[in-house]
Amino acid sequence: MDSENKIIIESKQGEALIIENPKGKNGKKLFLESYGCQMNFSDSEIVASILMNKGYTTTDNFKEADIILLNTCAIRENAEQRVRNRLNDFKRVKQANPKALVGVLGCMAERLKSQLLDQEKLVDIVVGPDSYRDLPNLIEEAEDGRKAINVILSKEETYADLTPVRLGSNGVTAFISITRGCDNMCSFCVVPFTRGRERSRDPESIVKEAKEAFEAGYREVTLLGQNVDSYKWSGGGLKKEILTEEQKNSAVNFAKLLEMVASVNPDLRVRFSTSHPKDLTDEVIHMIAKYENICNHIHLPVQSGNSRILEMMNRGYTREWYLERIAAIKRIIPYVGISMDIITGFCSETDEEHKDTLSLMEQVKYDFGYMFMYSERPKTLAERKFKDDVPEEIKRKRIAEIVDLQRQHSEIRTLEGLGKVHRVLIEGFSKKSDEKLMGRNSQNSVVVFPKGNHKKGEYVNVLVDECTSSTLIGKVI
Ligand code: SAH
Ligand code: SF4
Ligand code: F3S
Repeated sequence: MDSENKIIIESKQGEALIIENPKGKNGKKLFLESYGCQMNFSDSEIVASILMNKGYTTTDNFKEADIILLNTCAIRENAEQRVRNRLNDFKRVKQANPKALVGVLGCMAERLKSQLLDQEKLVDIVVGPDSYRDLPNLIEEAEDGRKAINVILSKEETYADLTPVRLGSNGVTAFISITRGCDNMCSFCVVPFTRGRERSRDPESIVKEAKEAFEAGYREVTLLGQNVDSYKWSGGGLKKEILTEEQKNSAVNFAKLLEMVASVNPDLRVRFSTSHPKDLTDEVIHMIAKYENICNHIHLPVQSGNSRILEMMNRGYTREWYLERIAAIKRIIPYVGISMDIITGFCSETDEEHKDTLSLMEQVKYDFGYMFMYSERPKTLAERKFKDDVPEEIKRKRIAEIVDLQRQHSEIRTLEGLGKVHRVLIEGFSKKSDEKLMGRNSQNSVVVFPKGNHKKGEYVNVLVDECTSSTLIGKVI
């Protein structure tokens, strides 16, 4: 491959990914690195698409880059700290090549706005999540020596017409954004401030993207949104009052969208993230059960097992409501993977309330989860109304208990996969051996097996007869 004519992206530090640029060159080299959630990684695919169309070529070595872009996350203090450290790494690039530009994209750009230009002399370009179409202009401005910034949030932008450049991809699984922004205002959360109002993307453009992914060899798509259950499309984005009866009837909710994407091809698996307990309907759960290719896995963040804390978090549900949703999921989908997010040490959380989180975990027995210590974020409701008064050492003690309990539950859930035949979509080689392949079952557990004549992108049935704490091991039958 011509080394000039490719896009190389770092998804995780040190992991460079190479894509050829069919559009040719403009002589400038780009280095792009992403942090944060899947939506941010999906956005980086839009950014890459926009810049490839302008002829940028790229490098996996930031020292030789003409432009360095960091797509950033603001969810917790330590997420921002990592980006600040990374910006310091780039100082030497600017010293060696004063013309090199550094741009901060994404949620931290949106949160800090021009402060990033004023305070950190290292940054030349600041671009919020709804302004990526403006990136080529902003780069030109910065090249002319002006400080370039666009952090305008939009009520409409969904980048629906842009074809993402699949980055960091195994060629089998792809992300598709279905909504942007969030209207929920959970009191701890910075996302409504960094990503703006919630908006849904035209279902036709989603289905088209899923079809194109399938035709390009992908066999799994993950539909992304901060709250996928609130997906809603009614007649081309027209105001409800002026819709005809027919348009109203053709309104698409999340359950319907799942069906539309699942119908692209039975061999295209559909996953989605994130579901919100207050909005997850029986209709959606039944739709998952109805289609073999909609995966039996629901990521359902709980945040806390205590209703008083949930109320303070403004989550819109109680412990009982959440447990009822879990019961409905387990009733309607007999073998289902369930995962969670939990925040520990939220303002005024007592030991008893922490124990409620542990007891809820005992009841649900999650397959896996993401567990965080509460980190106060500027401008959020919690920052304005409550005191971040749980001491750091208590937060640490509680998170250790939660993580330890989750480890036990993951083991229990993994053991339940023994003796069963799992339909697995092969994603590539196992981490430990080139003689073995890995993939996931519908429940999202990793399954490893001897490679035989199989290749990635194929489906196989694996009889599982061994496991580690979180991996199923077996043979193709
Ligand atoms: N939209 C998703 C979550 C997006 S953020 C949802 O509503 O579930 C991902 C996770 O980060 C959250 O579920 C929460 O567990 C965690 N998180 C968000 N804000 C946080 C904060 N201020 N401190 C610690 N964890 C936080
Ligand atoms: Fe944040 Fe709540 Fe929206 Fe999730 S649903 S992004 S936690 S405000
Ligand atoms: Fe982070 Fe923004 Fe995602 S704050 S978690 S990158 S929406």
